[in-house]
Amino acid sequence: MKKIAILGSTGSIGTSTLSVVHSRPGDFRVIGLSAYRNMRLLARQIKLFRPKLVSVKDEPAIRKLEKLADLSGVKVYTQDQGLAAIAAHAEVQTLVVATSGIISLRPTLSAIERGKTIALANKEPLVMAGEIVMAAVKRCGARMIPVDSEHSAIFQCLHKEEHRALSRIYLTGSGGPFRDFPKDRLNRVTPEMALRHPKWKMGKKITIDSATLMNKGLELIEACRLFGVGPERIEVVIHPEAIIHSMVEFCDRSVLAQLGIPDMRVPIQYALDYPYRRDNAVKSPDFFRIKALRFFKPDNERFPCLNIARQAARAGGTSPGVMNAVNEVAVEAFLDGRIGFNDIPAVIRRVMKKHACITHPTLEQIFSVDEWARKEARLLCYQQ
Ligand SMILES: NC(=O)c1ccc[n+]([C@@H]2O[C@H](COP(=O)([O-])OP(=O)(O)OC[C@H]3O[C@@H](n4cnc5c(N)ncnc54)[C@H](OP(=O)(O)O)[C@@H]3O)[C@@H](O)[C@H]2O)c1
Repeated sequence: MKKIAILGSTGSIGTSTLSVVHSRPGDFRVIGLSAYRNMRLLARQIKLFRPKLVSVKDEPAIRKLEKLADLSGVKVYTQDQGLAAIAAHAEVQTLVVATSGIISLRPTLSAIERGKTIALANKEPLVMAGEIVMAAVKRCGARMIPVDSEHSAIFQCLHKEEHRALSRIYLTGSGGPFRDFPKDRLNRVTPEMALRHPKWKMGKKITIDSATLMNKGLELIEACRLFGVGPERIEVVIHPEAIIHSMVEFCDRSVLAQLGIPDMRVPIQYALDYPYRRDNAVKSPDFFRIKALRFFKPDNERFPCLNIARQAARAGGTSPGVMNAVNEVAVEAFLDGRIGFNDIPAVIRRVMKKHACITHPTLEQIFSVDEWARKEARLLCYQQ
């Protein structure tokens, strides 16, 4: 029985992870769960999985949880200590990191330092501090298994292959809901329109990122860090059917791809069971119904976020972190109706222009630059 903990158990990835766990009685024991605001869902998860420790936003959240759940035998923490306590708990073998944002960077590092396996869905730790995180994985003999479907696909294609034989990565993406919109129509896109993703059901922030293609940009940086390749060796391919989750080309021009219907339970389960594969209830792709798989080049003019991310990946250091921080603020401002869809890349560009990149930053520098970037972005989004 594998002992696991989930940071962000009430989110889209967190609930899918628990659905995999629930479908496999006897295979997993849930030691820790963290939520932020959703106490109703956390209460149901506590009833079903009886974790030893849970983490919530603050004291009022604890009081709410006490009314909703039987907490006997469950140690309840507030966020400031809870995430770290779960990540470092001696019994946890695999830590699923499924929070959004940067809150899990330190707890993830602490689990890595204890040699645990990290099933990483949360892109931000690698985007902000990829060098530090991957160096710690190497130093501490920990294992980092990507949960993002594209990175899981690449990881699966590279399994047991010689790393030096890797020549190129094809990172696929569906193109989002506005793939065919002309630029002027993109100006009139509303948050409701952007939240309707054609292929994947996900949290709000990542759904907007998918519409701007910033999600592909963040994934590009994530892939550079995870697989130790430069951005020039990663080709982004728009593949509307979302059946190929990514591909890898080797030096003999042989290309391996991982395929399947879009269902996050597959990469989550792969990360939980690695290096084994187990049966599940996910449907097979019906190739006779799918009929055709299409591939397009991304349109960098209509969707500039991808190129911004490429430049940030090239610059390295604190640049990807600044891009990520400004993007988070801009997406929030777009959802609040404060800025338009096309303003998101414009705001990111303006703050990045002002930033003096630190090449090999410490964690403290990364966090302080993150704070600076958010402040600058808020000024642009909210005080005009
Ligand atoms: N969804 C996908 O299919 C998908 C695919 C690939 C990668 N990812 C990545 O996985 C991560 C999670 O995505 P998601 O779609 O599952 O997000 P989500 O649905 O928004 O869930 C986020 C989770 O984090 C918690 N959370 C939010 N703010 C927090 C804070 N300040 N401190 C602590 N916990 C906080 C939420 O708690 P409450 O709900 O209780 O407030 C929730 O449990 C993201 O980095 C995303 O880019 C997601």
